[in-house]
Amino acid sequence: MQRAWPERPGRRPRAGSNVEPVGVDGPGRHVVLVGAMGVGKTTVGRRLARELQRPFADTDEQLELRAGRTIPAIFRDDGEEAFRRLESDVLAELLGAAHPLVVAAGGGAVTRPENRALLGRRAFVVWLRASSAFLAARADPTHRPLLAGDPDVAATLERLIAARTPLYEEVADATVDVESFDAGDDKPKRALARHIARLVGIPAEAPG
Ligand code: S3P
Repeated sequence: MQRAWPERPGRRPRAGSNVEPVGVDGPGRHVVLVGAMGVGKTTVGRRLARELQRPFADTDEQLELRAGRTIPAIFRDDGEEAFRRLESDVLAELLGAAHPLVVAAGGGAVTRPENRALLGRRAFVVWLRASSAFLAARADPTHRPLLAGDPDVAATLERLIAARTPLYEEVADATVDVESFDAGDDKPKRALARHIARLVGIPAEAPG
């Protein structure tokens, strides 16, 4: 039986977006990408899912589908706490899937202790790390309420990164410096996905 995790409304479904619940103990742990807004978790996660031949899910997309509203609308109408509760529910549901997934977690998912505990139990966590200057050039504020209308996105990112770095460190089984890939490869996202596939392939998939 195939169960689809649909993409955002209006988006074309992409390869690697189906989840197949196959029992309680699937082989291998979930792989979860964490890191700040704009670091490329979703793009790299989709590629990684293809590399590992696993389904892919993005917590932000899943949350919007379940809520039937966009993230900016949830922040605006119900506030950040309500968003965080939904985010925790989505993360728990995804990491409860029997079949191992690749999951891109929203940048702030690590702020809740129960999410960090769950990540520790259920996932091989890869922290995609980059500087605020690098991220400020890439993070589109349009769909990101914590950045929207901000006259100094780099400063806000810097503050968020400073507050969250210990949390990313706490959950990370591996850390990847995204900027070095961006500088060294003409297809950095592909190179990054392949690098992570090699990283997680050893501890997560090797027999014994
Ligand atoms: C957030 C990151 C966003 C999204 C929300 C809040 C954060 O996800 O969950 O806007 O607190 O850092 P991305 O990291 O995928 O942009």
